[in-house]
Amino acid sequence: MINGVFALLLGAFSEPVRVTVKGFVGESAVFPCSIPDSEIQGKIEKFNVHWRDNEDKLVCDIIASNRTCTDQDPKYKFRVETFPDEYKKGNFSIKLSSLQKTDARKYICHITGPSQNHTITELHVEDKPEGRGNHRQPSLIVLLISFLLTCILPFI
Ligand SMILES: *[C@@H]1O[C@H](CO)[C@@H](O)[C@H](O)[C@H]1NC(C)=O
Ligand SMILES: *[C@@H]1O[C@H](CO)[C@@H](O)[C@H](O)[C@H]1NC(C)=O
Ligand SMILES: *[C@@H]1O[C@H](CO)[C@@H](O)[C@H](O)[C@H]1NC(C)=O
Repeated sequence: MINGVFALLLGAFSEPVRVTVKGFVGESAVFPCSIPDSEIQGKIEKFNVHWRDNEDKLVCDIIASNRTCTDQDPKYKFRVETFPDEYKKGNFSIKLSSLQKTDARKYICHITGPSQNHTITELHVEDKPEGRGNHRQPSLIVLLISFLLTCILPFI
């Protein structure tokens, strides 16, 4: 009994976990939120998960292991993936896709139930690095020149 009250107080006053996640425009990012595997066994229906953004807009809810994102803010429609196979391991992370610069903000997760979690993820969105493949061209030219210098030049 004392323990229960103590746990409740700790849950209410403990500092949130703070995480920074980086994503690229047009790609996706995973925001973590979980409770230990051992805490959820056989009690999955007792946990509710609330995902909100920093303006308190609804990103997604997972109520008793059912995704219920019905009053979701329109800007998150069709963009939020949850992972039902992971729920039973206590993992209620979500994935936001089609990232835009305007998505860069904080996302807040609250897990309530026999054990709690409060995690704040700060998302940074950057432009995709320009032409990942293009870096190969200069080095190819450098290789060619060094080949010419070392193999051809001695014979001239
Ligand atoms: C809360 O969730 C975060 C992100 O998954 C994790 O790093 C942290 O360990 C969790 N805290 C507890 C008490 O389970
Ligand atoms: C969640 O889904 C399960 C299985 O589909 C169902 O039995 C249960 O009633 C649902 N719970 C809620 C709170 O909607
Ligand atoms: C939770 O699930 C997500 C999505 O599958 C995954 O990316 C992440 O690594 C998982 N986290 C843990 C702690 O297993």
